[in-house]
Amino acid sequence: PAPSQNTEETYDLVVVANRLPVDRITNPDGSQGFRRSPGGLVTALAPIMAASDGAWVGWHGGIDEELESFDKDDIHMVPVPLSEDDLELYYEGFSNSTLWPLYHDVIVPPEYHRTWWDRYKKINQRFADAVLKIAAPNATVWVHDYQLQLVPQMIRLARPDLKIGFFLHIPFPAASLFSQLPWRKQILQGLAGADLVGFQRETDASNFLRCLRRFTEYSTKGDVATPPAGHQMQNLCRAKAHPISIDTEQIAKLSRDPQIIARAGQIRNELGNPKTVILGVDRLDYTKGIRHRLKAYGELLADEQLRAGDVCLIQVASPSRENVDTYMELRDQVELMVGQITGQHDTLSHTTLRYLHQSYPLREMIALYLAADVLLVTALRDGMNLVAKEFVAAHQDGRGVLVLSEYTGAADQLTQAVLVNPHDIDGMKDKIIQAVNMSEAEQDKRMRRMNRHLKVNTVARWSEVFLSELAEISAASSADAIA
Ligand code: G6P
Repeated sequence: PAPSQNTEETYDLVVVANRLPVDRITNPDGSQGFRRSPGGLVTALAPIMAASDGAWVGWHGGIDEELESFDKDDIHMVPVPLSEDDLELYYEGFSNSTLWPLYHDVIVPPEYHRTWWDRYKKINQRFADAVLKIAAPNATVWVHDYQLQLVPQMIRLARPDLKIGFFLHIPFPAASLFSQLPWRKQILQGLAGADLVGFQRETDASNFLRCLRRFTEYSTKGDVATPPAGHQMQNLCRAKAHPISIDTEQIAKLSRDPQIIARAGQIRNELGNPKTVILGVDRLDYTKGIRHRLKAYGELLADEQLRAGDVCLIQVASPSRENVDTYMELRDQVELMVGQITGQHDTLSHTTLRYLHQSYPLREMIALYLAADVLLVTALRDGMNLVAKEFVAAHQDGRGVLVLSEYTGAADQLTQAVLVNPHDIDGMKDKIIQAVNMSEAEQDKRMRRMNRHLKVNTVARWSEVFLSELAEISAASSADAIA
């Protein structure tokens, strides 16, 4: 890194996300430290960041805690502090009770509060300031997700030299829903500060372009949005689908690990070797359709289309956003349904439903994927759903059936899955039965086709393609400026 005027180190590639890719750990001697988190995004970016002086700006997960920046595995980590109030207004409030439900098709009603919006602006500025301090001249800045949609404009206005990319990991809603947002124009302008805005699906990109046309003075042609003459930002903004993926080879390799294979066998044994193991893996979030899934499963047991003694559903629901009311309500509803199903169908020696309100390390997740015959992904709306992709990558053996909601980004790519509409409970019940009874030859054919896709379309390729497209766009627009 080259020193800048203010003696801070500067970096050629700066990634900005709400969270830093690290987990807090307690060392054997009792001291506190950080470990790199297993997420796909950091796996993809780590090699690029190591090769090009990369820094990552994000919240470290502590409350009211100022931390110095530190290096971890060749990535320079820049922690952004959040107070208890910031968490309530910016994170739980505007990010997760306004934007999250609005962008997921108002499955629960979004709440609009001016105090939340004010704090969202303030915290976005805090992240932007942290970037401005460390971005080298002409650096590339890659901003991630709905928590930070104002950051591209904020850094564009301060530093027109930067190449700015943005990727939205969640859906972008239709204009008829987005129009509810009292601050729709500010959010759109915030995003338009980027040279390239990436989305999970084509639909998300076209929704965004339509909103820009309808609610701002930008005009669009193809996938490029142009500001009006005299606008404070003069950059063109390109909007495109860049669906994210997984580290396919890493998952495939783990799925061949003898210890993990043995663990998968042990999981089935300990459940009493049911004929069929069905699996669900989600954050405990109302977008995931967990209640719809349990409804269908409970009915299949009640009508004896599934025999209680033959089948077990393992539902992993990892704790998430536990201070947000809608998440507390969902937890109560799910746990009530779990009690109804197990109370009615379990016996002293067999459970029909093993509910786990916990999260597990990657190796244990792969063992669960291998132990399962069927994975149920029944989201009501989901930007991508990487669990679906991981399940497929873990089944290089060609076994297993993916039941996948049409309302996920993954459904655009994993077209050989058994696709379902989670609102149609009868339809979903039929598809679950189809999955449970699918012949091995059919399972194998579908798994192989989906794995052919994942072998090529990895998360490493996703970030390479995004960054090289961003580099090309910026080079073209600076050439325009010279001409
Ligand atoms: C989704 C979002 C991410 C977020 C993650 C976990 O995948 O797109 O931005 O980090 O959920 O949620 P949390 O609120 O715990 O960060």
